Amino acid sequence: MKILVINGPNLNMLGIREPEIYGAETYTDLCKQITDYAEEKGIEVEIYQSNHEGDLVDKIQKAYLNTDGIVINPAAYTHTSIALLDALKTVGIPSVEVHISDVSKREEYRKISFVREYCFKTISGHGFKGYIEAIDALLAEAKQ
Ligand code: DQA
Repeated sequence: MKILVINGPNLNMLGIREPEIYGAETYTDLCKQITDYAEEKGIEVEIYQSNHEGDLVDKIQKAYLNTDGIVINPAAYTHTSIALLDALKTVGIPSVEVHISDVSKREEYRKISFVREYCFKTISGHGFKGYIEAIDALLAEAKQ
């Protein structure tokens, strides 16, 4: 089982950016929690972060036929990007959308998500734990 974790813009600044919303832990901490969990579960995981929409599209395209599941936090591109939705539809890989904060309780413009149309599950507001829950959801989906 190979899972790709994709993080969009500004998530590399976790720990620095708005800690009252996203917490004090850093992006490195997040990556460690994900890789430790993947190791515990005996699965292969790749973590990718970019601040550029096209790079995120390229990464999703490269997953075609070699990846079993995608965990995606498109960050601000959640609310704007049809290109990311189309890329997920193109590769047809089971995907889970994750947000560290609860986007349903924030500004109106954060309530829109384009990738949600494709993702079979959305986890929002569970902090870093949401990524672990997303991996579990992909594992459960793969067993069906
Ligand atoms: C986010 C929520 C988005 O609205 C925001 O633009 C982000 C992070 C989250 O993880 O809570 O950058 O996706």
